[in-house]
Amino acid sequence: MAVLYLVLGICVGLFMSMTLQLNWGSAHAHVNLVGFATTALFGVIYTIYPQAAKTKLGIWHFWLHHIGVPVFLLSAFLVQVPGMLDTAHIFTYTGGGAFLLGVILFIINAFTNINEANVLKE
Ligand code: HEM
Repeated sequence: MAVLYLVLGICVGLFMSMTLQLNWGSAHAHVNLVGFATTALFGVIYTIYPQAAKTKLGIWHFWLHHIGVPVFLLSAFLVQVPGMLDTAHIFTYTGGGAFLLGVILFIINAFTNINEANVLKE
């Protein structure tokens, strides 16, 4: 999923450069940083600590992230469409809320299950 966001984010960046429509910069930055960088980092952390990924917290985080983030990112584009601000904000708060809830579960998971005993063994 992370690499798909990176491809989309780069495409938006190239589109902005070609058309000089720099108003999409916030959407571009969020697709790259929330979509790619954050998702990839969670993936790397769960790969290093597979026990944390298998917990209920890890599974709930996975689904909240992968449902919340695309909805939130959609809102980052919609806010740029004239007349769509109110609709965009529905997606911002539902998607962003799910994303935030997932991050809170990740933090609890990190404090309870990310430790030396659970690190990936070769
Ligand atoms: C071919 C790849 C890329 C192109 C062509 C591109 C292009 C752009 C352009 C045209 C802007 C707007 C600059 C302005 O408003 O003056 C921008 C902003 C930005 N880009 Fe990229 N970008 C690329 C890749 C990336 C990647 C991989 C990341 C992060 C992982 C990234 C993060 C950002 C950020 C944080 C901003 C600032 C957004 C803002 O000020 O609202 N970009 N990029």
